[in-house]
Amino acid sequence: MGPRLSGKGQQSHRLVIFLAIFILMTLLIFFSSNSGNDAVYTPFHVASAKTITATDLKRWSRKDGFVPVHGNKSLALHCGKCALVTSSSHVLSTRAGEEIDRTECVIRMNDAPTLGYESDVGNRTTLRVVAHSSVFRVVRQPNEYLRRTDGNFTIIFWGPPNKIEKNGKGTLYRLIQRVGAAYNNVSFFTITPNRMRKFDNLFHRETGRDRQKSHSWLSTGWFTMVIAIELCDNITVYGMVPPSYCGKKPLSKKLPYHYYKPRGADECLMYIQNESSRRGSHHRFITEKQVFARWAKLYNIKFTHPSW
Ligand SMILES: *[C@@H]1O[C@H](CO)[C@@H](O)[C@H](O)[C@H]1NC(C)=O
Ligand SMILES: *[C@@H]1O[C@H](CO)[C@@H](O)[C@H](O)[C@H]1NC(C)=O
Ligand SMILES: *[C@@H]1O[C@H](CO)[C@@H](O)[C@H](O)[C@H]1NC(C)=O
Ligand SMILES: *[C@@H]1O[C@H](CO)[C@@H](O)[C@H](O)[C@H]1NC(C)=O
Ligand SMILES: *[C@@H]1O[C@H](CO)[C@@H](O)[C@H](O)[C@H]1NC(C)=O
Ligand SMILES: *[C@@H]1O[C@H](CO)[C@@H](O)[C@H](O)[C@H]1NC(C)=O
Repeated sequence: MGPRLSGKGQQSHRLVIFLAIFILMTLLIFFSSNSGNDAVYTPFHVASAKTITATDLKRWSRKDGFVPVHGNKSLALHCGKCALVTSSSHVLSTRAGEEIDRTECVIRMNDAPTLGYESDVGNRTTLRVVAHSSVFRVVRQPNEYLRRTDGNFTIIFWGPPNKIEKNGKGTLYRLIQRVGAAYNNVSFFTITPNRMRKFDNLFHRETGRDRQKSHSWLSTGWFTMVIAIELCDNITVYGMVPPSYCGKKPLSKKLPYHYYKPRGADECLMYIQNESSRRGSHHRFITEKQVFARWAKLYNIKFTHPSW
């Protein structure tokens, strides 16, 4: 009897200790998540300023980076002024369409349409930068993405070599080639494997983090911004939020990630979840914008709707 009694006593003793630890941990978690920290997400960007090396993007050689899908033309695009129209729903209700259309070159991304949104996003497209993951959506609606253009129109496809590399190695290349042949007045280019590596190195130098080791995916916004800096003397960006926007309290009102998907996920939620996700690969939308903010001081980049 005796040993069993003392056993019971030990058990309840342990229970009390477990309970105490549990309550303490809960309180700790509760208070640490409420301590005056303004950031509502775990920032991805942890590298110190010392590890960041600036790259002169104007001096990236343009010739070796893009290969034509047909013929041997080179990417001869150069613009004094560019409008970079993002796919964010921040472009809605801006009535910026006419201003965008008056700009010498208009740059769009992936399958962001103009039909039905002209008053906010305009109706001209000079350059469209398309991710491997958007190729099907773009070629399935040629009337929207390949015909609704004026004059000289260029598409640049980016993606890993196993998707878009020339000479039959990329799984999407033949499709791109076929569509390129059908729309021979549109200039199709793909980004070379060599240039894709340079985009990775650029991310590493500008953030201090290795893209692959940090399980990061570059966004179409990253490629488009770098290409725009190469091609344009001056850039006005429509609809991009500043890097601190989604970390502010109180949280701003929910707005869809894409202007053409009104029922889609909230933009800030998407940014924050991607930024702080560790398992699997994710986009670092917020980190990328921190880099864009630095580039804006080096090149003539202006942000509008919202302005920053
Ligand atoms: C390729 O470009 C060169 C000049 O840069 C030209 O002489 C040649 O005819 C072109 N070939 C084709 C197939 O267009
Ligand atoms: C159209 O764009 C292509 C590729 O950038 C270029 O090679 C060509 O000279 C341009 N044509 C005109 C008429 O501007
Ligand atoms: C570009 O912006 C700079 C500085 O704001 C200005 O001096 C220059 O005239 C602009 N160039 C064009 C082509 O608009
Ligand atoms: C769209 O295109 C037509 C001419 O093609 C033009 O008259 C109109 O102003 C353009 N812009 C907008 C915002 O609709
Ligand atoms: C290209 O040609 C097609 C017909 O072949 C036409 O519908 C389209 O408007 C043209 N696009 C450009 C950019 O000239
Ligand atoms: C990250 O962003 C992409 C959109 O590019 C989205 O499909 C994905 O669900 C996001 N991931 C998380 C964890 O929110």
